[in-house]
Amino acid sequence: MNGNKTLIMIKPTAVRKGYIGPIMGKIAEGGFKIKAMKYTRLSLEQAKAFYAVHSERPFYGELTGFMSSGPIVAAILEKENAVEAWRNFIGATNPAEAAEGTIRKLYGTSLGENAVHGSDSDENAGIEGDFFFSATEIF
Ligand code: RTP
Ligand code: MG
Repeated sequence: MNGNKTLIMIKPTAVRKGYIGPIMGKIAEGGFKIKAMKYTRLSLEQAKAFYAVHSERPFYGELTGFMSSGPIVAAILEKENAVEAWRNFIGATNPAEAAEGTIRKLYGTSLGENAVHGSDSDENAGIEGDFFFSATEIF
């Protein structure tokens, strides 16, 4: 059965470029409900823990260095079939290949700096939600 929550992040470059507002607008347009949200910055250790699943990949160092390079927005969003709905909404991992109108096409800079994150499964949505939020921070 598909779940109704996903964990998303607005990544450092998109924050730096002033895209928090526009991306929040797209989130509302897309019919996603905000269950939890925070503006924070990951330490390198936290970024490594968050992306531990990618620890053997060649881009792990670049990815975790980038994700800890500045503030991010993390949020839990709710919608029917949220994981797939969000991934369709943001477009392909590489902004150059993302469909017109998607968040990564509109606000992404490069493969590494692709504006936003989205959980890749219901199980990981739960794990990633717990990484950022305690029960009292989810509404
Ligand atoms: P995300 O986890 O950030 O939502 O992105 P994704 O599922 O579309 O992509 P994933 O395979 O999980 O990769 C995580 C992030 O690593 C960066 N990446 N760099 N240099 C490379 O070949 C490469 N491949 C992936 C991307 O920023 C991707 O979002
Ligand atoms: Mg992923």
